[in-house]
Amino acid sequence: MPRQIPYGHQSIDADDIAAVTDVLHSEWLTTGPRVPQFEKTLCDFTGSRDAVAVNSGTSALDIAVAALDLPPGSEVITTPFTFAATANAILYNDGIPVFADITADTRNIDPEEIRKKITSRTRAIICMDYAGHPCELAEIRSIAQEHNLRLIDDACHALGAEYNGKRLGTFADMTIFSFHPVKPVTTGEGGAVVTNDSTLAGRLRLLRNHGIDRDVPHSPEQGWAYDMTLLGRNYRLTDLQAALGTSQMRRLSKFLERRNQIAALYREYLQDVPQIVLPHVQNGMYHGWHLFTVLIGKGNRDTVYADLKEQGIGAQVHYIPIYRFSYYRRRFPALVPDAFPVTENIFGKILTLPLYPAMTDDDVAFCADRLRRSIRKTGGSR
Ligand SMILES: Cc1ncc(COP(=O)(O)O)c(C=O)c1O
Repeated sequence: MPRQIPYGHQSIDADDIAAVTDVLHSEWLTTGPRVPQFEKTLCDFTGSRDAVAVNSGTSALDIAVAALDLPPGSEVITTPFTFAATANAILYNDGIPVFADITADTRNIDPEEIRKKITSRTRAIICMDYAGHPCELAEIRSIAQEHNLRLIDDACHALGAEYNGKRLGTFADMTIFSFHPVKPVTTGEGGAVVTNDSTLAGRLRLLRNHGIDRDVPHSPEQGWAYDMTLLGRNYRLTDLQAALGTSQMRRLSKFLERRNQIAALYREYLQDVPQIVLPHVQNGMYHGWHLFTVLIGKGNRDTVYADLKEQGIGAQVHYIPIYRFSYYRRRFPALVPDAFPVTENIFGKILTLPLYPAMTDDDVAFCADRLRRSIRKTGGSR
């Protein structure tokens, strides 16, 4: 069988397997002592006071928006160039997603476009660190402060990425991570919200567990008593997943180093291909390289994608802009692609190449070589 290279893949080693096996021999399968242990690891790594681990990045986004307790119909400004979950979290909580266009170089939300979208109904901003490149966090935070808006950073791509020498996790009111297998570390499925705000942390803990509060006054005979104080969900992470997460976190710095090496190799192999635009990294950023994307001359991206696929290379397109989905078009007919010229231009050309820590140098050379050949064959222009 010809070699198959997916765009992303987990790295599981014997320590990970032993950590999960230990849990299987223990008393706890669902949320037990491994979850707070994992949360502490996340706090230590990101420098945030609290971490609330849940069963997916999507769940983390959902309870983060819920924790803000926004009035129904509140507008939340976000990027259209993200995974659907970022904007869906606003809808789950009866908010209205308002999309602001991105910048061409980083594909992150453009602070100037955020300013244009602020109205009297705006209550929050959700930015997203595309591909692992931190967004303009200082500027976005100052916009949020200026307009009294809450800020959520969807850093599902960017655990370990640094903005001006500081890891993501404390720039926004809440920062979101995902532990899906293609992400910087994995728990199978999983996610977390980290925050320095203890009130929000308390709400997040309630929201992930049905809104159940066991800390209620009761007589000794009524040890079973609890209250339900918020409309929560069951988004609990299991100890099996948390043990895997803690074990994976020990190798995160190595994973990031390897991701950076692979990105450098791609750059070296592809820098002289005039039909390709390589990804830009702003000064002062440590890139998480969740995704390595190239822009390919308009018109032949899909041909190149199909050609690579035929050769076992799982290139991808990140992302189909959210306003293009039929659900969003039905619900928000006024949303038109023409309103997002930068996103549309990037969407028409972008292609994600495989990148994950277990890729060998030879895998990277193979993907780069096949991409060069494919571009030569299909001949696009920049
Ligand atoms: C930017 C972004 N936000 C949110 C999510 C949702 O994370 P999960 O798959 O863990 O639910 C993803 C996952 O792909 C993502 O890429």
